[in-house]
Amino acid sequence: QTRDPFIERIPKVELHIHIEGTLTPELKWEFAQRNAMPLKHPRTGTVFSSLAELQDSHDTMKASNGDRMDNAEETMSFFEAYYGGFLVLKTKRDYFDLAMHYFERAARMNVRYCEVFFDPQGHTRTGVTWEIMMGGFREAQEKAWKELKVESTWIMCFLRDESPESAMEHYVAALEYRHMIVGIGLDSNEDQRPPVLFEEVFARARADGFCITAHCDVGKTYPVEHIRQTVSDLGRTGADRIDHGLNVVDDPAVMNLIREKGLGMTICPWSYIRHQPFDEVFERIRILFDAGIKIAIGSDDPAFMEDTWIHENLLIARKYCKFTDGEILKLAKDAVDMSWASDEVKRDIL
Ligand code: ADE
Ligand code: ZN
Repeated sequence: QTRDPFIERIPKVELHIHIEGTLTPELKWEFAQRNAMPLKHPRTGTVFSSLAELQDSHDTMKASNGDRMDNAEETMSFFEAYYGGFLVLKTKRDYFDLAMHYFERAARMNVRYCEVFFDPQGHTRTGVTWEIMMGGFREAQEKAWKELKVESTWIMCFLRDESPESAMEHYVAALEYRHMIVGIGLDSNEDQRPPVLFEEVFARARADGFCITAHCDVGKTYPVEHIRQTVSDLGRTGADRIDHGLNVVDDPAVMNLIREKGLGMTICPWSYIRHQPFDEVFERIRILFDAGIKIAIGSDDPAFMEDTWIHENLLIARKYCKFTDGEILKLAKDAVDMSWASDEVKRDIL
């Protein structure tokens, strides 16, 4: 890959990254070893006996269709690989190391500020306590700020394939850590799970002062109606941002609404090209940008997408949307603008 000094140098804000999506096979292996946990293939149950074997299975998953599963027995779906990773996270040190690993990477890419997703339900269901999870995250966050000058906050996502009751229980439990959490999101498998199912918990979060966002259509086949609900209904007044949602270009009315409300969209190109025609992805990003909709380029799950971080996502967006330096700068400024940082922090970034 050719170097792009402009993209390297530009101060970055990352608004779409799942901390669990930064769990590389190397980290997974390290945590499994030190916690004396056998690592099993989630589909076949075979125990991985070396890091190389684990990396190999990860590569097979990457080459597959991502979350749009094909039928190969040995091929993991994205969600199997992703949630399989949660099993190796046991101690506060694991959570600290996972987050610190990301913050160090972020610092090297000149990320100055990030809002990082985490999925608490995926951790409590493996028996991890809030104190272990949030304690590890908090220590890493403090160290990242002190030593790397990377400022960060967290977005708590509900798993939309779990029940609204579970979301509410987790919301209430998280209030003890609310000083660490800027916003509430919605992720996981979108099939048959429209955002309004979670209306009650989002309305409560809105009333309590959290910002809100939701994943929409990571890959084209989910109804634009999910985007409309996110824009107009979620939290009663509609969300503050939309995560993904490229298929909104099929619905000019909803696209207009996004523009009129000034909502930003977080866009992660490497996530889409696994299961959507390549050219169409970049055409759609360009359409949104040219329509004057604010876009923040993000990375989603770098460890599961061929090691593509915000830097690589900016590079591919630049190349295939033909963004000029001026347009890259506009993207960077829009990301700052779309962020939920204080005005003071925003001023310091760009
Ligand atoms: N959670 C983490 N990564 C995700 C993705 N790509 N789509 C939906 N939910 C997710
Ligand atoms: Zn995501």
